[in-house]
Amino acid sequence: MSYAVVVHEVYKKFGKPAEPLWQRLLKTARPNHNGNGTHAAPGENGSGNGNGNHTEAHFTVAVDHVSFEVKEGEIFGVLGPNGGGKSTLIRLISTLLLPDSGTVSVFGYDVVRQSMKVQERINRVSVEASFFKKLSPMENLLYGARLYGLEGKATRKQVVEILTRLGLERKNIGSPMEEMSRGMQQKVAIARALLSHPRLLLLDEPTTGLDPRSKREVQEVIRELRQDYGTTMLLTTHDMVEAELLCDRIAIMDKGKVVALDTPPALKLRLPQTGGKEATLEDVFLALTGKQLKSEEELETT
Ligand SMILES: Nc1ncnc2c1ncn2[C@@H]1O[C@H](COP(=O)(O)OP(=O)(O)OP(=O)(O)O)[C@@H](O)[C@H]1O
Ligand SMILES: [Mg+2]
Repeated sequence: MSYAVVVHEVYKKFGKPAEPLWQRLLKTARPNHNGNGTHAAPGENGSGNGNGNHTEAHFTVAVDHVSFEVKEGEIFGVLGPNGGGKSTLIRLISTLLLPDSGTVSVFGYDVVRQSMKVQERINRVSVEASFFKKLSPMENLLYGARLYGLEGKATRKQVVEILTRLGLERKNIGSPMEEMSRGMQQKVAIARALLSHPRLLLLDEPTTGLDPRSKREVQEVIRELRQDYGTTMLLTTHDMVEAELLCDRIAIMDKGKVVALDTPPALKLRLPQTGGKEATLEDVFLALTGKQLKSEEELETT
């Protein structure tokens, strides 16, 4: 079995001291009495977490010892509540962030030591894709194509093909990006990522903000990509129906940890049937991220 992505014990935290350096230096020089006769410790000025853990008080653990593998040709979903760590994980895989510890490899290449090799094989679509807003989709995509070393008439034809396949009207292909709706801009972002024919496509909420028809068009393109080119995809979404429809396996992340990883049918079996009806993926998501369901370790021991 060859793996497209191997994530091993990855840990990433963000943060900075709550106070600027000059304030901390001032405090050290002139101890600040807090009214009860004791000196205020760092993190006790109202911004701490109140658990006495002053070192970690100002840090956010975004990805907390996460491990999983994505098989070649798989569509792997990552679900989780806001702030669960999904986008951070995608940035780590796409070499945009460095892990604090743990390793990530993409088609056998380490994202830290062999980042160029990784970048040649991947592309990423994020919810906040950036463009030259005064330029048209055609101009933005031709610019992007040039960065991948693609030029000429064939590229221009390919741009039109991809954009129309994604449901963009021909009249929009030549108008400025700033005149397009967010959903239309999202489609252009997907088209741009497809130009480089990535072996691994990282899709961070690719259908967020799209109307139902556009959503379907994008979902169809995702399925076709795997079918026609065997593209491996790792995708995040808040749409449970989409996750079930597209993904071979799904990892559910909560507070930086993977709390479940399985196929959609197996995930649904984790909850008992109610009134003879099978649980939905949304039920499972809510139960897992609401802490009402048994943890994976508990399930293994039962
Ligand atoms: N650049 C950053 N600096 C500081 N904290 C960050 C940064 N990026 C993410 N975080 C924090 O890391 C945690 C995980 O964020 P992340 O964006 O990965 O979550 P997410 O699962 O993608 O959420 P959403 O569903 O809202 O997109 C959050 O607490 C977030 O505030
Ligand atoms: Mg996100």
